[in-house]
Amino acid sequence: MAREFGCVGVVGLGTMGAGIAEVVARTGIRVIGVELDADSVARARDHVEHSTERAVAGGKLDAEARTALLDRITFTTSLADLAEADLVIEAIPESLELKARVFTELEQVCRPDVILASNTSSLSVTEIGVHTGRPGKVVGLHFFNPAPVLRFVEIVRTVVTEPDVITDVVAFARRLGKEPVVIGDRAGFIANALLFGYLNHAVSMYESRYASREDLDAAMRLGCGYPMGPLALLDLIGLDTAYEILETMYRQSRNRLHAPAPILRQMITAGLLGRKSGRGFYTYD
Ligand code: CAA
Repeated sequence: MAREFGCVGVVGLGTMGAGIAEVVARTGIRVIGVELDADSVARARDHVEHSTERAVAGGKLDAEARTALLDRITFTTSLADLAEADLVIEAIPESLELKARVFTELEQVCRPDVILASNTSSLSVTEIGVHTGRPGKVVGLHFFNPAPVLRFVEIVRTVVTEPDVITDVVAFARRLGKEPVVIGDRAGFIANALLFGYLNHAVSMYESRYASREDLDAAMRLGCGYPMGPLALLDLIGLDTAYEILETMYRQSRNRLHAPAPILRQMITAGLLGRKSGRGFYTYD
């Protein structure tokens, strides 16, 4: 019998973390969401409110259920508040140093039986796990953006993850309405390893002025039936996140497909991060 989690902690409430908090709360589970400061908490709250408004407008959620969902999320700036969590999902930026620090702190705050999951999209879950005294309870749980809408999750098993942990996390993912796959710990896992070479190639075509952003996106949307073109998708993912993912995969594989196109770095330096900063390949209101 898989364990049920009554209270789930989410650390880092950016685009992914806020989406994950929403998905978990929608299932009827209490969520404690942790961010660094009051401004980030306010941004996260806005994100969940806006996303659930869309769910109501699209007929995916009724107004009463939305209010209950929002009530189930407690926002805080203190990791110590995770003492009562049964499972913690970390979704902070893709830096091994930052994640190692958070997992070391979680080790002190959380009960010994608590499963510590990382939403990392390309870093090694094994390397993150060794920063705790319980690497057997550490697992990857990788969602896709937007987390409330996309139904796939990758569950990453390291060589020391306990089998029961995998069973529990698979059951949890199903309870969230997701379709889980269990895979080993390799940079990019399945989906990003396939997706990011393609996205990076699109940026190179744009950078070399071979094709305009509109033509590139139309080719894949209208010609291949993808829901979004590659440059619009990069704006959704966030150029900084995309860059980190490419860099990590390139470091591991040395596959030139994953060597980040130079313009990505320049755009990030100039503050063009995509939707979240109001401008990336496109401009947003
Ligand atoms: N909860 C539940 N449902 C919601 C919702 C929410 N909070 N918000 C919106 N929805 C529903 C809407 O009701 C709508 O449902 P119908 O299609 O049945 O009408 C559906 O979700 C789509 O919503 P919208 O109409 O608002 O938006 P859209 O039609 O323009 O679709 C999109 C937007 C879902 C982003 C779609 O374009 C898409 O799937 N794009 C591709 C995204 C993708 O590839 N993501 C993966 C990125 S890689 C990644 O994430 C990995 C990583 O590590 C970075």
